Amino acid sequence: SDYWVVVPAAGAGKRMGANTPKQYLPIDGKPLIAHTLENILSWPGLKGVVVAISADDEVFATLECAQDDKIQTVIGGAERADSVLAALEYLSQHQSPTTSVLVHDAARPLVSTDDIHKLLSAAPMALLAQPASDTVKLAGAESCVRQTLPREQIWLAQTPQKAPLGTLLQALQRGLDENPKAITDEASALELAGHAPELVAACRSNFKITHPSDLVLAEALLRHRSG
Ligand code: C5P
Repeated sequence: SDYWVVVPAAGAGKRMGANTPKQYLPIDGKPLIAHTLENILSWPGLKGVVVAISADDEVFATLECAQDDKIQTVIGGAERADSVLAALEYLSQHQSPTTSVLVHDAARPLVSTDDIHKLLSAAPMALLAQPASDTVKLAGAESCVRQTLPREQIWLAQTPQKAPLGTLLQALQRGLDENPKAITDEASALELAGHAPELVAACRSNFKITHPSDLVLAEALLRHRSG
């Protein structure tokens, strides 16, 4: 079963506290996004990749992996969902609405091929996610605990998130129109449209690089994997 991949990579990565957008921070001397794209290019059945980059991006075109025939770019938007929407709108000019699309963060270089296989064999709408390992608290006023949530029902959403192109495009357009703050991943838009994507348990190593210490961890894991 063939599919396309959309990679939102137009963020500034402010939580990193660096001047370089986080997708270009080096891991083992190579930009984060290059690790992610090289990983994606190794997935079985991949038709192509659409990367959403920011309008003032001057780095992406200089990357070695950007020269790959399977990789195309579009200009992203103000929020992650806007960037994904731009890539889906571009794809829908060339591909049928039934085409399967996997949306994957540039900031998740360590997703395993095993987990990709699991996602590809899951329901047509599905996402990688991590069952909560810590006890989860709902905060009330002034960071005081209001409630402890039932842990066995809590999953932390990762990417890739998979859906048919037409369904996802419609759901995202509608979600951004009606409640943009609630659209923090693809599944949230699909849920608002009445769908219930399947949760596929993924490896912990598929964390999103967010804070500086994540770079150290990612470097260690990538070295361990290739060593
Ligand atoms: O900042 P955060 O970790 O939530 O970003 C997740 C992904 O979304 C990153 O790969 C980032 O580059 C991308 N993004 C985007 N356009 C934005 C904001 C974030 O493509 N406006």
